[in-house]
Amino acid sequence: MRVPPARVCFPAEDRAEILARIDEALTSGQLTLGPIGRELEAAFAKRHSTRHAVAVSSGTSALEIILRALAVDGREVIVPANTFFATAAAAVHAGARVVFVDCDPETMAFDLADVEARLGPDTAAVIAVHIGGLISPALPALAQLCRDRGVHLVEDAAHAHGSALGGQSAGTFGVAGAFSFYPTKVIAGGEGGMIVTDDEAIVEAAHTFRDQGKGSFLANFHTRLGANWRMSEPHAAIVQSQLARLDEFIAARQALAKRYDAAIDDLGLRPLRIPADAHCNYYKYVAFLPPGIDRAALKQTMRERFDVGLSGEVYDTPLHQQPVFEPFADRALPGAEFIGARHICLPLYPSLSESDADYVVESLGTALNEMGQH
Ligand SMILES: Cc1ncc(COP(=O)(O)O)c(C=O)c1O
Repeated sequence: MRVPPARVCFPAEDRAEILARIDEALTSGQLTLGPIGRELEAAFAKRHSTRHAVAVSSGTSALEIILRALAVDGREVIVPANTFFATAAAAVHAGARVVFVDCDPETMAFDLADVEARLGPDTAAVIAVHIGGLISPALPALAQLCRDRGVHLVEDAAHAHGSALGGQSAGTFGVAGAFSFYPTKVIAGGEGGMIVTDDEAIVEAAHTFRDQGKGSFLANFHTRLGANWRMSEPHAAIVQSQLARLDEFIAARQALAKRYDAAIDDLGLRPLRIPADAHCNYYKYVAFLPPGIDRAALKQTMRERFDVGLSGEVYDTPLHQQPVFEPFADRALPGAEFIGARHICLPLYPSLSESDADYVVESLGTALNEMGQH
């Protein structure tokens, strides 16, 4: 495909460095929970201005560990309907009942008024998700609301490595944040996740949970119902190399986003607007379609005629409409449904050339024009 929707970025010198570090691990025999993982944790915590970081097997396990550490079992966890399956699934696996709330089409994140309306005596936690890497300007107000009500705020920062609002890093607005290193993410690890927190009790619980609930690495004495949620040393080596490039990756994504910004209004699309005090990593470049444009037909034309991939919405089917979450779906959520139906994501990754970004814009212009709306 001439312009795929996403592409990993591993320059040759990074690949050589990663292989050298994996060789170290193979030589030493420390293949999991070793020095590379610890170095990565320290570097990740420093980059996101938290006291601690705990490396785990995935973004999903990072969320579940945080929620288990917060003892949400038997209680309610508020989840925005516009997010990935894993946000809600982690809460269900941790024993909670999910309460879905609506989302704001201006930010794609939680609708603050709806969260407030759904908070109740059984609410243990609220999860905020930074869709596309944008931290909602309403997040500080949500954090205050959670503090006032004695409810934990957890951030699903799977999209938001390096993002900030008012100079404050993603993952630091609540009690803990969860990041993912899935291959499509701003930094890719193959698999992997990270918990960031200042809370010592969460760190202690996370160390235990990620290693089968064991009281210590070498003992077979289990104090919590954990699982194999460890990060292997080869994965840590990959993530470490990507983390060193994070600021460079974000700068490249921002430059391409600026290029799209300059053309997007003329295409008749409404981009997700990034507030002035938000530092967005542009995990996704999101644009809303004008009424009357059929998204599936547009994507098909872009793929078949122009060889441009527009897949990877965030997200197309909101969670309250997913069959598996039917027991938690108690009402329509029009904001999340609008977001799911009406946005597209333009290809965006550090190795996308300016000429290919311009080609995406031109192709979109032609396709939209032919669909009668331009
Ligand atoms: C918003 C969100 N939450 C959670 C996850 C789960 O992360 P992982 O795939 O690393 O388990 C992802 C990504 O896949 C995600 O996009």
